[in-house]
Amino acid sequence: GKGEYDHFMLKEIYEQPTALAQALEGRIDPENGRIALENFEPGTFADISSVQFVACGTSYHAALYGSLALKQAGVQSTALLANEYSVSAPPIGDDTLVVAVTQSGETADTLNAMRHAKAEGASTVTVTNVVGSTAAREADEALFIRAGPEIGVAATKTFSSQAVMLTLLGQRIAADLQGEVPANLESLLPELEAMPDSLEALLEQSDAEAIAERYENSQSYFFIGRGLGFPVALEGALKFKEITYEHAEGFASGELKHGPLALVTPDTPVFAVFNGVEDEKTLKNAEEAQTRGAPVVAVCPDGHRAVDIADAHLAIPETEPDLAGLLANVQLQLVSYYAADLLDRPIDKPRNLAKSVTVE
Ligand code: M6R
Repeated sequence: GKGEYDHFMLKEIYEQPTALAQALEGRIDPENGRIALENFEPGTFADISSVQFVACGTSYHAALYGSLALKQAGVQSTALLANEYSVSAPPIGDDTLVVAVTQSGETADTLNAMRHAKAEGASTVTVTNVVGSTAAREADEALFIRAGPEIGVAATKTFSSQAVMLTLLGQRIAADLQGEVPANLESLLPELEAMPDSLEALLEQSDAEAIAERYENSQSYFFIGRGLGFPVALEGALKFKEITYEHAEGFASGELKHGPLALVTPDTPVFAVFNGVEDEKTLKNAEEAQTRGAPVVAVCPDGHRAVDIADAHLAIPETEPDLAGLLANVQLQLVSYYAADLLDRPIDKPRNLAKSVTVE
């Protein structure tokens, strides 16, 4: 049941420290600077030449996160919407690794993309939450995120766990391909290990409810981020529209001035995600919106320069750039939740949506 929580979504948001601890259990070894993934011996990925991630919705945002992290580690990779895959897949060969990211393991679009890739000769891995799901049975290998059951239609803890699992998988792939562990692994491992505690700290003192109240009655809600902050901006907007029924959009920070800025008014708060990568540029993009009257909510650590300039602040603990977006995302989940609650929406079962979409 929901226990002390009004909704499963809130319960599941608060379960994220535990979910992440479970995802990491036995898989990272900061002392020896290693990542160990049960089914993947070192060398497994040595013959892969490119990685394609396929997924839908929130899982697609996790896939985009994983794909960007892998690219940063020097591996050719791309994230594709599973429902576009049959018309837009790049060339597939027996040296292609296709990673199907699906919480339920039952999403028809994602299963079809994976089947297509398999038929073309690719190796397949699924990153999923459900043991015994169709994706887990059909993929060559399955990596389980161990998030525990997610009842709310809005995916929350599974996004965080998927993104963390994809970070681990990406590090393993990069190590095999490059014959040495990626340069950032040493600093990443202790921060990964600290993620459950960082999340706990964030959840204990989030101002998300006050921010949701402050910007209630806005016309549209915009989310911006760059690099790994971009999928977080997309995810922030998807969650917001899904459960509040209000208009929300996510953009790459630098895209704002290429069109969306025309929509910006004092009634369109802009949530800006700062993850320590070209933050000055994102700040400039946010200020361009602020000049047009839009309130800017900076999602960043205390003491960050953006805090002085923004109209409001959602704090995240200090961490590695590869993980900061995941902390920011949790603040945005909370904003969506409280905004939907103020509007009295049926948070766990938004209209027109199903937890798992088993039709094309
Ligand atoms: O089970 P899956 O991860 O394959 O589901 C994919 C999407 O349908 C899902 O993430 C959807 O976008 C969520 N309801 C968003 O919160």
